[in-house]
Amino acid sequence: MRSKYIVKELLREMTQILKPCIPRAAREAQLFLMKYLNVDELWLITHQKSEVQETQQLFEWVQRRKNNEPFEYITNSVSFYSEEFYIDEGALIPRPETELLIDEVLKNVPDKNSVLTFAEVGVGSGIISIMLAKYFKNSKIIAVDISEKALHVAQKNIERFGLQEQIELRFGSLLAPVHEKIDYLVSNPPYIEEGVDLAQNLSYEPQNALFGGTVGDEIIKKLLDEALKQKIKFFSCEMGYDQQDKIRLYLKETNFKSIKFYKDYSSFDRGFTLIN
Ligand SMILES: C[S@@+](CC[C@H](N)C(=O)[O-])C[C@H]1O[C@@H](n2cnc3c(N)ncnc32)[C@H](O)[C@@H]1O
Repeated sequence: MRSKYIVKELLREMTQILKPCIPRAAREAQLFLMKYLNVDELWLITHQKSEVQETQQLFEWVQRRKNNEPFEYITNSVSFYSEEFYIDEGALIPRPETELLIDEVLKNVPDKNSVLTFAEVGVGSGIISIMLAKYFKNSKIIAVDISEKALHVAQKNIERFGLQEQIELRFGSLLAPVHEKIDYLVSNPPYIEEGVDLAQNLSYEPQNALFGGTVGDEIIKKLLDEALKQKIKFFSCEMGYDQQDKIRLYLKETNFKSIKFYKDYSSFDRGFTLIN
């Protein structure tokens, strides 16, 4: 590592470091440099011969990435639904398929002027509540999490988007801290079976954001119980690709209007909306 580089050389050196461990090393080198310099793709293409000084932190980032730490935790930044959010190890990194959960809500409530009370269980970084608050400007959202660290990340993001008036964060489990009448319950709960071997990069993420119990669908079932008991009109929830049958079976003897399952970008079952 030198003290000064031109962009082209810098990218080459970063790529060499990342190559043995990261599949798209050259692209990640570009993404790191854009983040580091706060420049866009066009700048990078047109400034290949520009000088970059003070590269120490950039190389620290690359070393962390070499150990498989997720890009998003290193740069404290993640994009979701075309918006940039703050992220750190306190909260799960939002996944692209969770955008489909937002789409589900928008399909069920086409009028963006609706005045609704939403509850989100497992707010994590806040991405779902924030996107709903941005869209349904007249609605209120109560967002719950059992992790203080996740609530801290969500708070940062809520402030970043100036949505403190619309979103209220509450610490606790499931709907225990929510006493208001809820019109729409939404959740991307932990739903992986405990003990499953996960990819190495997932070890950096909060484990209580991933594992849903010994079977995996325990939290989903508890939320279904609550949605039915409280007669919450809509409940949209993300789930595992192999959980549809178990959920259908669980609901067999219960009364509700309808349930519709949706698939993700790879055509795997990924969630459902229950209407009461
Ligand atoms: C899969 S993450 C989802 C985070 C975020 N909503 C998203 O979609 O990226 C699940 C979240 O649920 C929280 N959680 C786990 N068990 C919970 C419980 N019993 N009650 C409330 N939140 C819980 C975790 O702390 C974690 O933040």
